[in-house]
Amino acid sequence: MTIIVTGGAGFIGANFVLDWLAGSDEQVVNLDALTYAGNLDTLASLKNDRRHAFVHGDIGDRALVGRLLSEYQPRAVINFAAESHVDRSIHGPGDFIQTNVVGTFNLLESVRAYWSGLPDAAKGTFRFLHVSTDEVYGTLAEQDPPFAESKRYEPNSPYSASKAASDHLVRAWHHTYGLPVLTTNCSNNYGPYHFPEKLIPLVILNALAGKSLPIYGDGLQVRDWLYVKDHCSAIRRVLEAGRPGETYNVGGWNEKPNMEVVRAICAILDELQPKTDGGAYSDQISCVQDRPGHDRRYAIDARKLERELGWKPAETFETGIRKTVQWYLDNQDWVNHVTSGAYREWVSKQYEAEA
Ligand code: NAD
Ligand code: TYD
Repeated sequence: MTIIVTGGAGFIGANFVLDWLAGSDEQVVNLDALTYAGNLDTLASLKNDRRHAFVHGDIGDRALVGRLLSEYQPRAVINFAAESHVDRSIHGPGDFIQTNVVGTFNLLESVRAYWSGLPDAAKGTFRFLHVSTDEVYGTLAEQDPPFAESKRYEPNSPYSASKAASDHLVRAWHHTYGLPVLTTNCSNNYGPYHFPEKLIPLVILNALAGKSLPIYGDGLQVRDWLYVKDHCSAIRRVLEAGRPGETYNVGGWNEKPNMEVVRAICAILDELQPKTDGGAYSDQISCVQDRPGHDRRYAIDARKLERELGWKPAETFETGIRKTVQWYLDNQDWVNHVTSGAYREWVSKQYEAEA
């Protein structure tokens, strides 16, 4: 048996592939375009592993995807491939429309052609799992209940609008063509191999480098944090037992204002790697200009996934963030490779006013 994973050189996709092969001998074909966010260093431990076939390519390349589907005859396709950073989507939305909307459309069409030709038994068990985000639901006020699956889509950024569009395409391919799809909408992830353009790895690495820790606006925006390995276990569970056509919200009930997250990271670093000058890492916090259209609060109601499929996260925010900080301290080689090239150019563009 084989599964195809797209975007498996990115943060969540690579964690998924590594976890999958740690617990199963089922082959993984990993299709990734290796944009700035794709990193083969993360998959270095699989270099000589015959269960992992890496293919460099685009989800929108129908000829390539069609070839992979007919050669490997997968029982499932799990779509992680996307442009994923909100700030980048504000600077340049075009890539987001291209990959997240047009790319997902082309992938769905390739998969539909393959699936239509399967024998009836394989047709019934095949799954297309689309990995999406809670950001499609828009923003919450302080007293609002967390996002349930029935919440209206109200995306506010080019990123979330492109993901919302892709979710709608996936839904339509089920209702119109009968493709057995599953969609997961997850809250903010953090953990090992996270590209340091996102808040948590950016803060860890800037703190260690003696740089300022940029907090947008008042720092009281709330995100609902989930350790990446818990997201991966939720995806495995939905793939195994989710009902085709359904969507499942994934989250760990860990709502935190950004300022609290940054202070928690600083406190762990003060303990694990105290500054040589005796100061506190939190002294490096600096409030910078807010993100345009910044969503105030996200929060996930994950009760459907718990009730129907028995999934629960293994980590609390406190255990997960400690593991994450420790991982960055222990993996300097990975960090050094990532912080060269494209990432440095992005940082100077995004934060040039502060530089
Ligand atoms: P990421 O940006 O770290 O990785 C994306 C990967 O997709 C990269 O390896 C990149 O090379 C690849 N890719 C981009 N365009 C491609 C294309 N056209 N064809 C093939 N590969 C392509 O993203 P991530 O944080 O790992 O997110 C993975 C998925 O999970 C995304 O769909 C994202 O919307 C969703 N998600 C992310 C979070 C989060 O907190 N990071 C939360 C919920 C959902
Ligand atoms: P991010 O990690 O970019 O995820 P998302 O925008 O998808 O939620 O940002 C998490 C939160 O942290 C978000 O409210 C924006 C904020 N943030 C900062 O305050 N400073 C930063 O430098 C970054 C990258 C994000």
